[in-house]
Amino acid sequence: MNFHDLITSRQSIRSFKDKTPKRDVLEQILEAARMAPSAVNFQPWEFIVASSADMLPRVHACYHRDWINTAPVVVVAIGNHKEVWRRQADGKDHTDVDLSIAIDHLILQATELGLGSCWVCNFDVDKVKSLFDLPSYQEPIALIPMGYPEEDLKPVDKERKALDEIVKWV
Ligand SMILES: Cc1cc2nc3c(=O)[nH]c(=O)nc-3n(C[C@H](O)[C@H](O)[C@H](O)COP(=O)(O)O)c2cc1C
Repeated sequence: MNFHDLITSRQSIRSFKDKTPKRDVLEQILEAARMAPSAVNFQPWEFIVASSADMLPRVHACYHRDWINTAPVVVVAIGNHKEVWRRQADGKDHTDVDLSIAIDHLILQATELGLGSCWVCNFDVDKVKSLFDLPSYQEPIALIPMGYPEEDLKPVDKERKALDEIVKWV
């Protein structure tokens, strides 16, 4: 897949086939996250892969929409506020920035391998924290349900603002 096809094939998938992706496929996807750049290369991230009969339903229960129950795998992306870079000038914590890049790598690699996924940030943060017994400096940033989509992924037209609305040439 060329890059343009990849980024237009990536779309939020909210319905999955009843087929769990193999471990080596998931490892390839996680490897793409591992390769992501981060401020000062601090890599302030951890990924929990929930797919077992015990844990998967407990992670599904952290999001209120029923569609998540069809996901055979949910990756929980966790930011570590102890290991992150803070800008000297204003103390800005870059956890969200670093995690977003890693998650995008992960999602794009999943797309290339034919897996659908969806960013989920509107989850129950306290439930995730207590499920995984996270200390206060570890923040769950996103759930990423993934699996094989009902239909093969292919490039789609995206509803996006026009370039001239979002770009200023100076
Ligand atoms: C940071 C972020 C958080 C999101 N959270 C949710 C969510 O909680 N639930 C959901 O169904 N979709 C969520 N989405 C998916 C967006 O609704 C979706 O990406 C957007 O509508 C564009 O559609 P597309 O992904 O198909 O291109 C989220 C996306 C991003 C980037």
